[in-house]
Amino acid sequence: MTNHIPALDLAAVAPRPPAPQAELASGSRAAAVKLVDVAKSFHTRCVLRQVDLSIEPQEFVALVGRSGCGKSTLLRLIAGLIPPTSGRVYIDGQPLAGINPRARMMFQDARLLPWVRVADNVALAARDQPAVAVEQALQMVQLADRGQDWPLTLSGGQRQRVALARALIGRPPLLLLDEPLGALDALTRIEMQLLIDRLWQQHPCTAVLVTHDIEEAVLLANRILIVEDGTISKEFAVDLPRPRARLQPAFQQLVAHVLTHVLRTSVTASETPGPPMDRDIARGSR
Ligand SMILES: Nc1ncnc2c1ncn2[C@@H]1O[C@H](COP(=O)(O)OP(=O)(O)OP(=O)(O)O)[C@@H](O)[C@H]1O
Ligand SMILES: [Mg+2]
Repeated sequence: MTNHIPALDLAAVAPRPPAPQAELASGSRAAAVKLVDVAKSFHTRCVLRQVDLSIEPQEFVALVGRSGCGKSTLLRLIAGLIPPTSGRVYIDGQPLAGINPRARMMFQDARLLPWVRVADNVALAARDQPAVAVEQALQMVQLADRGQDWPLTLSGGQRQRVALARALIGRPPLLLLDEPLGALDALTRIEMQLLIDRLWQQHPCTAVLVTHDIEEAVLLANRILIVEDGTISKEFAVDLPRPRARLQPAFQQLVAHVLTHVLRTSVTASETPGPPMDRDIARGSR
């Protein structure tokens, strides 16, 4: 992972705009994200080009692609941590300039401050939230009894749950997840996936998840976007009811279909007809 920016709340380091009245009235706080013809180069290396993307409020999108294809760069553009070289990022219809105040980010490592107790680590993300919000956030991740502990006394999985509580406190409109479960053991990872799914269903926000785990993408996302050749080349809709069962044939069929595409196996598309939900953006059949 190439990100060297502290993982705390993006909103905590940027002025927090007042919530629009319409959102308060409707109770819908999830953010809309739009990228229009976005390109990003580092020096002479073009990493992303011609990225056009619309994410609806309360949509859960997964970004999948080979290592180095630009997934984290895309997430950082949406977070406002880096500016596009050309094109525009819009959040709720407004051009993004600087840090995205509506976004929270979670990374592969928990990035807790070791000299700050667990509850205070969570509180750091949203200083305007009352103490009860910290308690609720820790309850959501089943760590209500560990608030006064030091981060180093927690297991790796527990530390990631604290990072999740920190990301979720105050119900952010936009959650950006950069391989948040990548360092966890298989069982803890499955538990965390189910926890994220349950919490997202209880409090739907807009979510963008970067993952190398296709099963994780199918389990959590409404839509899977393939990043390759510097752009979003293909998308797969995930129209399975939640909670999703991994052993269901439709689930496994979609996993195989996405995996086949990502790995570019020698099996041709005609030999493995996928469900009708996939859309080849490059061919314009969206
Ligand atoms: N700040 C930077 N300066 C120079 N090059 C960068 C910078 N950030 C990213 N890159 C380059 O952009 C490309 C995409 O990086 P990125 O981290 O977005 O890939 P990724 O898809 O997230 O990969 P991974 O799955 O391994 O995390 C890489 O070639 C990387 O070296
Ligand atoms: Mg990355």
